[in-house]
Amino acid sequence: MPPHNEPAAAVICGIGAALPTRVVSNAELCTHLDTTDEWIRSRTGIAQRHIAGHNSSTEDLAVQAAAQALARSAPRPVQALVLATTTPDRCCPATATTVASQLGLTGIPALDLAAGCTGFLYGLATAVGFIAARAADSVLVIGAERLSTLPARGDRTTVPLFADGAGAVVLRRGQAWEDGAVGPVVLGSDGTYAELIRTARPGALQMQGAEVFRHAVDRMSAASAQAVAAAGWRMEDVDRLVPHQANARITSLVARQLAVPDDRQLQNIDSVGNTGAASIPLLLTQAAADGRLKAGHRVVLTAFGAGLTWGATTINWPDLTLTPRPREFQ
Ligand code: COA
Repeated sequence: MPPHNEPAAAVICGIGAALPTRVVSNAELCTHLDTTDEWIRSRTGIAQRHIAGHNSSTEDLAVQAAAQALARSAPRPVQALVLATTTPDRCCPATATTVASQLGLTGIPALDLAAGCTGFLYGLATAVGFIAARAADSVLVIGAERLSTLPARGDRTTVPLFADGAGAVVLRRGQAWEDGAVGPVVLGSDGTYAELIRTARPGALQMQGAEVFRHAVDRMSAASAQAVAAAGWRMEDVDRLVPHQANARITSLVARQLAVPDDRQLQNIDSVGNTGAASIPLLLTQAAADGRLKAGHRVVLTAFGAGLTWGATTINWPDLTLTPRPREFQ
């Protein structure tokens, strides 16, 4: 442990992801939904999404993604687990506790974190806090979702968007100057807009899409600008913008507002849809594996979600081990 006066940073040292094997194309959706492939592609950027089977759980996806992140990080005892999710497997106990036990991590602190699609960024801030509080030297942050369970059956305004998946990172105690250190984290919420995306239970989601769209662009742009300034960067220094994958039109507008060129913006919504709190770690894992994200890149992460919630942070991307690779990305 470092002396008390030494500032501690949380440094990413492992990353992983998991997707259900079943792929549902827009064409398949059109067989039971009043929509078209052309509408979904042009209005959202989505061509297909991965959907978990009825017997699969958020816990299953979380364990798969986390196991990969753990296998890829240097062997070290993980001392805390944060599971960001909007779709826990039950109200009580927290899904995180059984995820930890499944991973052989019985005994460590483990909690669920509900911050909508911004959950992964809230999770990173929580990991920074665990490390600064000397409660843990290494933290596993997972985003895992079965968002496909939330829309009402037949609701063409939400069914095409929401999908399933998981992503995970391992963070270790380190120094702020190291590659992989999580930069200043900007977070916010505004419950006066709680009605814009709301559900009391699976299958009853209500969303005011156009209003959500407007807030998503404004909040992610503002949070990104604040995070970049807090890190002491200039926007033109940013090599990769990694926005929560809500809608390709939203993320393109965010990039345009920030004057980040299109080729510096990472996207995977075309193949995975909106996977909520899993979206950012899933995209980071894919992009690191296929070379779009390289060691030394200056990266901005930003997200927005139900609540409303929003956030952003910065990372100098580290040199990570990327084997074993997830089956989907080989
Ligand atoms: N297929 C065909 N038509 C559809 C459709 C679909 N899947 N979904 C909606 N429409 C129709 C609407 O019924 C409406 O028809 P009308 O003009 O006859 O009333 C028309 O398309 C336009 O609807 P609108 O809601 O204004 O479309 P939009 O361009 O705003 O796109 C969303 C809708 C949902 C794709 C878009 O608003 C969005 O992505 N919002 C953000 C959602 C989000 O990201 N939520 C999660 C945040 S983390």
